[in-house]
Order: sequence, then C-alpha cells, then structure tokens
Amino acid sequence: MTDQEIRKGLAGVVVDTTAISKVNPETNSLLYRGYPVQQLAERCSFEQVAWLLWYGELPTAEELAAFEARERAGRALDPRVRHVIDEAPTSAHPMDVLRTAVSLAGVLDPEAGDDDREAELRKAERLLAAIPGMVAYDQRRRRGQEPVEPREDLDWSRNFLWTTFGEEPTDVAADVFRISMVLYAEHSFNASTFTARVVTSTLADLHSAVVAAVGALKGPLHGGANEAVMVAFDEIGFADRAEAWLGEALAAKRKIMGFGHRVYKHGDSRVPTMRAALDRLVDEHGAHEVAALYDRLATAMDERKGIKPNLDYPSGPAYALLGFDTPTFTPLFVASRVVGWTAHVMEQRAANALIRPLSAYDGPAEREVPAQ
Ligand code: SDX
Repeated sequence: MTDQEIRKGLAGVVVDTTAISKVNPETNSLLYRGYPVQQLAERCSFEQVAWLLWYGELPTAEELAAFEARERAGRALDPRVRHVIDEAPTSAHPMDVLRTAVSLAGVLDPEAGDDDREAELRKAERLLAAIPGMVAYDQRRRRGQEPVEPREDLDWSRNFLWTTFGEEPTDVAADVFRISMVLYAEHSFNASTFTARVVTSTLADLHSAVVAAVGALKGPLHGGANEAVMVAFDEIGFADRAEAWLGEALAAKRKIMGFGHRVYKHGDSRVPTMRAALDRLVDEHGAHEVAALYDRLATAMDERKGIKPNLDYPSGPAYALLGFDTPTFTPLFVASRVVGWTAHVMEQRAANALIRPLSAYDGPAEREVPAQ
C-alpha cells in the first residue's frame, strides 16, 4: 500500500490554481473573475459573461459589438454537421448526438491543429455560436419539425429559443433562460471541467478536450442530473406524493437527483437566483403545482437527509416550463459550460503540467507465468 492517504474522487484535494472562478462553500458564494455570479445574472448578457470568463474582464462596448457580430454571423449550422445529426437514430441520447456533432465541428474547424491562444479564443467563439443550433436542430428533428434558421437580430439567448421553438420567446422566458445560462457557465474544477484540463494537459487540442467534457457532463451525478430531476417529478406527479415517493426512493438507496454537492455542503450558491427565475416562469404559466412539488420534495429531503438542492434542481422544471424536451436539458448545460471548459483549456495550456496522479496497487503480488 502507500504511505499517502488515498482521497477517492479527489474529494477535498487542491490540484492547481485557477483565476477563472472561486467557489467558496464557507460563504456559499461563486465569483466569476471576481464578480458575484448573482450580479452577473442580474445585470449582464450571456455574451458579456462569456467574454469575462475568456478574457478576465468585462468587454468594452466596442469589444462586445465586435464579438456579437462574429457570434451572430457564425450561428448557421454547417450542412455536414446537420447531416451527422440526421444520421443519428432518434433513439440516441441527445448528449451522444451533441458529443458527435461537436467532434465533427472540431474536424471542420478552419484552425484545427492551431493551439495558440488567439486561435483557441476563435475556436471557443465558434463553438459558442454553433452549439445552440446543434441542440435546436436535434430537438426539432426528433419532433418531426423542420429546422428554424437563426436570426442575427436576436441576442444569443433569444436566438437559442427562437431556433428551438420557431417563435420569439416572451421577455420572461428569454430572461430566465439567460439567467440559467449565466449560472451554468463556470464552476471551477467540476468533473467535466477537470476532464477538459486533463485532456489539455497532454497538449491535445481544444475540441478533444470539449468532446471529453461533454462525455463527463452526461453522467447523472453531474450534468445529467437536471434531466433526471424532471424524470423524478414525472414519477411523483403531485406535490402530495412527494414525501411518500422520497421515502420509497431513499429506502431503495436511490440518489435523489438535483440534491447534494461535492463542494457546497449548506446549499448551492446559485439556487436562490435560479429559484427566483423559476418562480417567474411558474407565474407566467400558472404552474403552481410545479412549485408546490418543488417545495415539498426539497423540504422533505432537508428534513430527512439534511441535503439541499443544487443548481440542477430548479433548472429542470424551468427548462420544462420553457418547453424543452427533458433529454435536451443537459445539452443546454453544454451550450453554457462550453465557455467555462474553453476558459480552463486556455488556462491549463498557458501554465501546463501533465496531469497524472498516482495509484496504490492492491492486486496480486508478483508471480511467475506458468510454463505453457
Ligand atoms: C453538478 O462539482 C460541481 O461543481 C458540479 C456542478 C457544476 O456546476 O459543475 O455543480 C453541477 O454536477 C451538481 C450535482 C448534480 N448531481 C446530482 O444532483 C446527483 C445527486 N447528487 C449526489 O449524487 C451527490 O450529492 C453528489 C455526487 C453530487 C455529491 O456527492 P459526494 O460529495 O460525493 O458525497 P456522497 O455521494 O459521498 O454523499 C455523502 C452522503 C452519502 O450518504 P452515505 O452513503 O454516506 O450514508 O450523502 C448522501 C450519500 O448517499 N447523499 C445523497 C445525495 N447526495 C449525497 N443521498 C441521496 N440523494 C442525494 N442526492
């Protein structure tokens, strides 16, 4: 064995520094480049937050205008990417289809193989512009709907909803969606971001890192939880069944999706902001049963396990009220977190060390292969 303590899951292990975000469980706070995420969610567009995470400062008016123009011009889905999505069976999970589409985008990227910072910033921008179209196209084809072309007169969030649903969102829907995208954009060394850093640490390219991160995010212990929250809500049905359902689930040793966190132990700093946003959708849709179920389950989970919601818990019902199909929820997480992933790819590359931890061997002692 080893004289070093094994920290399974790297729980509590500090493996590097980062200047991109600070997750602080003691103060239950989250800073993006020093700015509280709650203020960014209230005051900034998703484009401004993306620029902040990539460059370290909020954009000037000129920088923002130029970035918005490039992003809007880059939204149209490459026909070859559409073809790959069309080739995927509709039985395939949307995260698997998105992983494949992003991989092809990497092959087709005009600066594939060029990993200097300027090229990586442009690659990241192109992914930010293209992923909403991939997600929207895939959901519409599963519904038997014709694709909707992007519009350059809408900002990133509104265009995402336009290309998905073929109608302009209400101001509430657009703002709630924008808030969710700001909140999902970055969260230090979570599993998918750390995956991107591990891939980058071998000096592999940005798209290889992002494709690996999409794979990591899919799991229900991570990004897949927002989809699983709605599966649970559908199982429960009505608020009055929440306690009984929870008792059965906990008795079966099930993880309750949307609850708990590796770092936050007294509640996820992002939840109050997302819950307030959800309430605006509940009011707009008159969906008070959803809010009742949300509260009953959260209260019961707190009373029975002392475990509080994470961001995926309010995001799930919000995305359902916005009209997204449940399997599309985690691809929404990708569309936002691609900003955090690519910011970390560039930070890792700028001060790289190959990420290769040790393991303690506990297999058979050395032995001889028998004569054959
Ligand atoms: C995200 O890291 C990030 O920042 C991630 C993220 C981001 O922005 O990138 O915040 C996004 O991934 C949020 C988490 C989404 N996942 C879920 O909602 C899945 C359900 N949650 C759990 O699987 C769990 O809470 C984790 C995985 C999120 C964190 O678990 P830990 O820190 O590894 O702790 P643990 O699983 O060892 O749990 C400690 C105890 C255990 O009880 P015992 O076995 O010791 O008796 O708490 C229990 C767990 O069973 N527990 C839960 C639970 N979460 C913890 N029991 C039931 N349901 C849960 N959700």
